[in-house]
Amino acid sequence: MANKIATRCDIMLFGALGDLAQRKLFPALYQLERAGLLADGSRILGLARRELSSDEVRKELRERLKQYVKPEEFNPSVVEAFLQRVEYQVLDFNNEAGFGLLNSWRDEENSELIVYLASPPAMYGVIARNLRSASCCTEKTRVVVEKPIGHDLESSRVINDELGEVYKESQLFRIDHYLGKETVQNLIALRFANNLFASQWDQNHISHVEITVAESVGIEGRWGYFDKAGQIRDMIQNHMLQLLCLIAMDPPSDLSADSIRDEKVKVLKALRRITPDMMETYVVRGQYTAGTSTGKPVPGYLEEEGANKRSETETFVALKVEIDNWRWSGVPFYIRTGKRLPEKLSQIIIHFKPAPHYIFDPDQKHLANNKLIIRLQPDEGMSLKILTKDQGLHKGMRLRQGPLELTFSEAFESERIPDAYERLLWEIMKGNQYLFVRRDEVEHAWHWVDRIIQNWSDGGDPPKRYAAGTWGPVASIAMITRDGRSWYEDA
Ligand code: BG6
Repeated sequence: MANKIATRCDIMLFGALGDLAQRKLFPALYQLERAGLLADGSRILGLARRELSSDEVRKELRERLKQYVKPEEFNPSVVEAFLQRVEYQVLDFNNEAGFGLLNSWRDEENSELIVYLASPPAMYGVIARNLRSASCCTEKTRVVVEKPIGHDLESSRVINDELGEVYKESQLFRIDHYLGKETVQNLIALRFANNLFASQWDQNHISHVEITVAESVGIEGRWGYFDKAGQIRDMIQNHMLQLLCLIAMDPPSDLSADSIRDEKVKVLKALRRITPDMMETYVVRGQYTAGTSTGKPVPGYLEEEGANKRSETETFVALKVEIDNWRWSGVPFYIRTGKRLPEKLSQIIIHFKPAPHYIFDPDQKHLANNKLIIRLQPDEGMSLKILTKDQGLHKGMRLRQGPLELTFSEAFESERIPDAYERLLWEIMKGNQYLFVRRDEVEHAWHWVDRIIQNWSDGGDPPKRYAAGTWGPVASIAMITRDGRSWYEDA
C-alpha cells in the first residue's frame, strides 16, 4: 500500500459488535495502525445496542484481534495503541433522540467523518435519517454501506432512495469486498498497463472466458440469512458480475472512479437477458447434499443447523453469459460459484483462440490455445500457458505447453498481501471511490439477475443436487461440454 497517511478521520461504526466488524473491520483497522497508516488523532466510535462500557468493548476486541490476526502480525504494543483509539457508545439505531449524543464525540473541525453501516441493510434508511435529524453529518461525510443492497431491483431502489435522500452519490461508498482484493485490482493493471494483452482482448483473439469462485465451506451458521438469498444474490449479483465487468470492460480514459464505473455499467447493460427458453442451456442451479469436505463427512444443505427441510435455495450457480457488444460478440463467459465445492479457489481463465493456420503435429492440436490463468485466491498470481518446443534431438518439433508464471508471494516476497478490507478502508479514508460500486451498477446487476430468479420461480424446477465435495451438478459440466469445452480443472 502507498506509504502516505490518510487525513485524520473519525469513524462511527454502526454494528460494532457484529460479525463483520469483529472478524474483518477491526482487524483491518489494526493492520492499518501496524502499517503506520492511521493519522494521529484518528478515532473509532463503536455503536451497538449491547450495554457495555468502552473498557469492556476494548477487552473483547483484544481477544478478537488475537483470534483473527495472524500470531506473527499480532504486536501487543500496537494493539494497545490501536485500542486507545476505540470508544464505545450504546445506541438504539431506531431512537432518533439517542443520536444527539454522537455530536459531542464528533470533532468536525479537525477530522473527516466516516459513517460505516455494518448493520442490516434494512436499518440504513433509519440510521441515515436519524443522523440527519441530529445534524451529525456534513456534505463531506463519507458513508459506507455493505451488501446486500436489497434482494431485488425494487428493494435495492428503496434502500438507494433512502440513502440518496440524505447523501449525495459522491458521499456513498458501497462495498463489494472483491474489489479490494489485490489480484482483482491487478486485473486493471494487467489489462490496461500491458499493450500485449490490450491488443488481444476481444472476440478476434479470445474464444471464451471462465470465472470460478469456489468455496469448500458450507453455510457456517448463516442459514437464516443465506436461505433468503441463495448463491445468485449472495455471489453472482455482486462479486461475480464485478469480476466479469473488470474482464470485459473497455479501457477507461483514466483511473477516476466514474471513468471506471461508466465502463462497468456499459458491460452490465450489454449482458444478454436470459429468457425462459434459454434456461436449460444457459443456467444451472444446484444444492449440495451430504458428502465430504477436506476428507471429513459433512451434512447436506437441508441438514444444516436451523434448516428448513423443504428449502429450494441454491448453493451453486453456473451460467453461460453472452455480452452483446462489438468486443465480445460470440465469446461466452462461463461463470460458476458454489458452496461445499472441493476447494477454496477463485480464478479467471482467458482462453485464447488458436493461431489461424496450424503447422505442427496434428496430434498436438488440442494444445494450441494459449491460456491466461488469473488466480485471485489462494496463491495469488498469474500464469500464461504458452507452447514451446520440447527439448532434445529425438523430440523433433514436438510441442510442450508450459507456464510463464508470476506468483505474487514469491515475486514480492517482502510485501504482505493486504486483506481486501484494509485496502477498502484505506481508500475510504482517502476519499477515493474507484473501488466502490455506484448506484446504477447495483441496479443494472439486479435487473439482469432478477430475470433469472423470475424464470426459476415460473419454471418451478427444484435445484439439481450435488454431493458436497464435488464440482456441482453434472449439468454444469454438460453446459460447457455442449459447446465443445470443459471447465479448466476437468481439462
Ligand atoms: C460474501 C458472501 O460476500 O463473500 C459469503 O456473503 C462468501 O457467502 C464470501 O462466503 C466469500 O468471500 P471470500 O473473500 O472469502 O472469497
